[in-house]
Amino acid sequence: MIVAGNWKMNKDFQQAEELIIDLLELIEESGKPLNTEVILFPPSIYLELAGDLVHETALYFGAQNVSQFEYGAYTGEVSAPMLRSMGVDYCLVGHSERRKYFGETDALLSEKIRACLKNDIIPVYCCGESLSDREAGKHTKVVRKQLEEALFNLDVSDISKVIIAYEPVWAIGTGVNATPAQAQEMHDFIRKQIGEKFGRTMADDKIILYGGSCNSKNAADIFAQPDVDGGLIGGASLDAAEFYSIIQAAR
Ligand code: PGA
Repeated sequence: MIVAGNWKMNKDFQQAEELIIDLLELIEESGKPLNTEVILFPPSIYLELAGDLVHETALYFGAQNVSQFEYGAYTGEVSAPMLRSMGVDYCLVGHSERRKYFGETDALLSEKIRACLKNDIIPVYCCGESLSDREAGKHTKVVRKQLEEALFNLDVSDISKVIIAYEPVWAIGTGVNATPAQAQEMHDFIRKQIGEKFGRTMADDKIILYGGSCNSKNAADIFAQPDVDGGLIGGASLDAAEFYSIIQAAR
């Protein structure tokens, strides 16, 4: 099980520090081992802070975005070698907000995934359909295309490292989560696609997270689905107690 917190563009420096410290305190006070991999995705400007605070704790940290380029005249961008040099182990790729507001296409995301893998960063590849796709009954087709274009060109050793996050766009930040059955149906579908392309063992081992209005109330039911291996949590990861409850649900 993995529980990841995507902070998006939230928190100032002091609030970011407090959130991580509060979370570490809750974990320590519980006196119990985590039994869950917890990954924090703060804004990149706080990666050094996150790295310092989670160093020698059970928490991991990652970046929300990465450039497809390695170095050079790309003002405002942060590259995979730079992230790696800061100790970053994970990176979100293809979040629907990046697709929507920054025009990221599957072809670009494929390059970003390769940049991560080349630099020993595990990409967390986000996919998911819009409400109109779902209403038109095209949700599996849309997700299939996202998988195909960004992942199916990888070789076996690379695909084995990728984590997938299913995040239906209509559930992100809306308070309307996918039902456990809807999540299970899509996770099963994604696993089957991986299986058809890369074989049964790869599919069985693939970690597939659910994201979209996941909170302390609905997490346990969603995580209990056989093909759901944890969650990518947005809004509910911004509060230490709420996020910790979700971690407990995964336990
Ligand atoms: P949400 O966001 O939990 O606020 O819906 C999830 C995400 O975008 O990763």
